[in-house]
Amino acid sequence: MTIHHVSNYAEMCRKAANMISAQILLNPTCTLGLATGSTPIGIYERLADAYNKSDLDFSGITTFNLDEYCGLSENDPQGYYYYMNEQLFNKVNIDRAKAHVPNGTAGDIALECRRYEALITAAGGIDLQLLGIGNNGHIGFNEPSSAFEKDTHCVELDEETIIANARFFDNPDDVPRRAITMGIGTIMQAKKILLVANGEKKKEILQKALYGPITPMVPASILQLHPDLTVIWSDT
Ligand code: F6R
Repeated sequence: MTIHHVSNYAEMCRKAANMISAQILLNPTCTLGLATGSTPIGIYERLADAYNKSDLDFSGITTFNLDEYCGLSENDPQGYYYYMNEQLFNKVNIDRAKAHVPNGTAGDIALECRRYEALITAAGGIDLQLLGIGNNGHIGFNEPSSAFEKDTHCVELDEETIIANARFFDNPDDVPRRAITMGIGTIMQAKKILLVANGEKKKEILQKALYGPITPMVPASILQLHPDLTVIWSDT
């Protein structure tokens, strides 16, 4: 595990964007695993900047997002496909056919989970997975539970996650109760993992995840077992 402790959010984003850029430059047809939420916004901004300066070409890459809310369509401003469009996809030359987000409106969610998992396998797995961490230690939407779930699956979101994510919705009652998420096995099979976290409110859970016991009650604690984990942690 390599930990970079930096002093501010801008520095965290710069370092993370550099690592993702290096991955794309070394392998222009690589597969990236992407996260949503507040933490990666500045990282996507820097990647889009690099594209505008002709330093990065996204045309050959494939991406898989970690998760999507059940019931929200690609056009829903609260959905993660929309978020990815706004934060990155609309700003770079990514091939949309190779930019994957689970379909939250699929008629058969279990089938959609299997389809998504099979797509990741068919792409040869993920070369670099970007992760944030939830206040309760979740990665993707793998919530604290009695066992680690291996593959892409449907989850009931924790009350804590619903409250934390209510800030993105006009009405907290609109936060979906279920989501599709890559499983812990799917995430752990990524060749490299980049975990980013910032701010005082994430400090305690990050400590638990990186130095505490490995337990499904702190899903991110499994990352201690990953052979190529980089953590970029910033105080603000
Ligand atoms: C989002 C995701 C979540 C977030 C986590 C932190 O795709 O997978 O695990 O990374 O909830 O969210 P923020 O960055 O908003 O604190």
